[in-house]
Amino acid sequence: MVATRGLFFVSLFALALGKPMARSMKLHESREGIPEGFSLRGAAQPEQTIKLRLALVQSNFAELERKLMDVSTPSSANYGKHLSKAEVQQLVAPTQDSVDAVKSWLKENDISAKTISATGDWLSFEVPVSKANELFDADFSIYTHDETGTEAVRTLSYSIPAELQGHLDLVHPTVTFPNPRGLPPVFTAPIKAEAQNLTSRATIPSSCARTITPACLQAIYNIPSTPATESSNKLAVTGFIEQFANKADLKTFLTRFRTDISSSTSFTLQTLDGGSNPQSSSEAGVEANLDIQYTVGVATGVPTVFISVGEDFQDGDLEGFLDVVNSLLDEDTPPFVMTTSYGQNENTISRNLANNLCNAYAQLGARGVSILFASGDGGVAGSQSASCSKFVPTFPSGCPFMTSVGATQGFSPETAADFSSGGFSNYFAIPDYQTSAVSGYIKALGNTNSGKYNATGRGFPDIATQGVNFEVVVGGQSGTVEGTSCSSPTLASIISLLNDRLIAAGKSPLGFLNPFLYSTGTSALNDITSGSNPGCNTNGFPAKAGWDPVTGLGTPDFNKLLSAVGL
Ligand SMILES: *[C@@H]1O[C@H](CO)[C@@H](O)[C@H](O)[C@H]1NC(C)=O
Ligand SMILES: *[C@@H]1O[C@H](CO)[C@@H](O)[C@H](O)[C@H]1NC(C)=O
Repeated sequence: MVATRGLFFVSLFALALGKPMARSMKLHESREGIPEGFSLRGAAQPEQTIKLRLALVQSNFAELERKLMDVSTPSSANYGKHLSKAEVQQLVAPTQDSVDAVKSWLKENDISAKTISATGDWLSFEVPVSKANELFDADFSIYTHDETGTEAVRTLSYSIPAELQGHLDLVHPTVTFPNPRGLPPVFTAPIKAEAQNLTSRATIPSSCARTITPACLQAIYNIPSTPATESSNKLAVTGFIEQFANKADLKTFLTRFRTDISSSTSFTLQTLDGGSNPQSSSEAGVEANLDIQYTVGVATGVPTVFISVGEDFQDGDLEGFLDVVNSLLDEDTPPFVMTTSYGQNENTISRNLANNLCNAYAQLGARGVSILFASGDGGVAGSQSASCSKFVPTFPSGCPFMTSVGATQGFSPETAADFSSGGFSNYFAIPDYQTSAVSGYIKALGNTNSGKYNATGRGFPDIATQGVNFEVVVGGQSGTVEGTSCSSPTLASIISLLNDRLIAAGKSPLGFLNPFLYSTGTSALNDITSGSNPGCNTNGFPAKAGWDPVTGLGTPDFNKLLSAVGL
């Protein structure tokens, strides 16, 4: 007893002597070390300014999640009854207490912050590094990405005043490191050699064994070529890191591969953070052109918008991800499908930031938007192939409120593409909608890869499409590309064409897809049962009957999907 009391007094005394005026600070987020591939270069200049963002705690996310599942589950009476912008905002806007607590702390510190989201849950401000270190008990330093030389000012931990706990969700950028490379597709030369004839179905052009074009996807997945009719049914393609979508290349692509539609069919542009879409042929981006050519060129007649996110207010994709989702949440009539072919390894992102973004996808899902992301191109090694001892899940594929798209190749049979990222999140627990599908797989897998993946995490991808040998036109040149970057726009086109039929029939668009895909939608997919995604010195996960962490539940069949959605 005496000893305990003695210790108690000693610690109080130390506290009192230390910093009489200081508030009590609580460690808020930290990371175990510098992420692989980065090195510490040195302290950041104290007078250098940094842009910080604060996220306030959202008031009632649990109820938002409940409503999201309710409107997205086919067996629910409320299926398709998506929420309005006001209904979503009311559920998640931070409480007045949180707003007041954060604002009065900012005021005490002479900081004027800008609100950067419609619900008021994100604020931003600029301060010198010295002040940021003081405000958050942080150690902002310069880190360099070894391979690309990309520099970032980050800290390995930060604290917040005790009275802001429960009000302040996170400070960014702090412990989240940037993604130096995104998820670019691999641009390869046109394949000249005569490929073997893999055609088994008479309707699939034999050329599809060598290169994939819109006609191949239409044949393989029974996608209609007839134009969509509903102008409210927008499809959004996001673009980052100065990847520009070129209109002349799109025209060339359509002239060659969609002779049945007008070659002047195009897309509209939306910009954010000083984004632009310059049209000189040398600035055409492989990723952006791929994404636009396989949406405008496959989702026939669907109004497609290219959202080009600039670099005014970001030093990585994640700020861009945040700005896109916040901007769409602020729209009264957001696009019904959004496809993104960028992502990064989950372990580079703080849990709080991952959660915050994931919750934003849930909000858009509740509004009736299908959120699609490419799963990554490194097999079980993550977004890109890399050395690893444990499997590396990608973000945002580990988020349970979006749809992760993996890749396949061939069609006789259709097989998993070996780069298709898949696995299990370390941040997000397995959602109810997939427990039965995933536990079946883990059981069938037995001891293979045990200890290398998190068997309680959310499994991804959810679904897959072709992702190898896609014909694209970039800067006037034809070539083929591969990657899950091919798959996400392909699926986006299919979902948009389904939405067109649904809306024309007076029904709601599909919205958040997973509860449908894992229930009444499963039988409308082609199960992929061969191939695997090697990485980390293993053979990766094998594709198997049912769901697997390479191709998800399988690939889409438009006709079967039409009947699965009741058309
Ligand atoms: C490839 O298969 C298709 C469809 O069965 C057939 O029409 C075509 O003649 C074949 N081509 C070659 C080179 O074998
Ligand atoms: C495994 O995933 C769960 C979420 O389901 C998470 O809470 C846990 O921390 C993860 N384990 C590791 C070692 O990352």
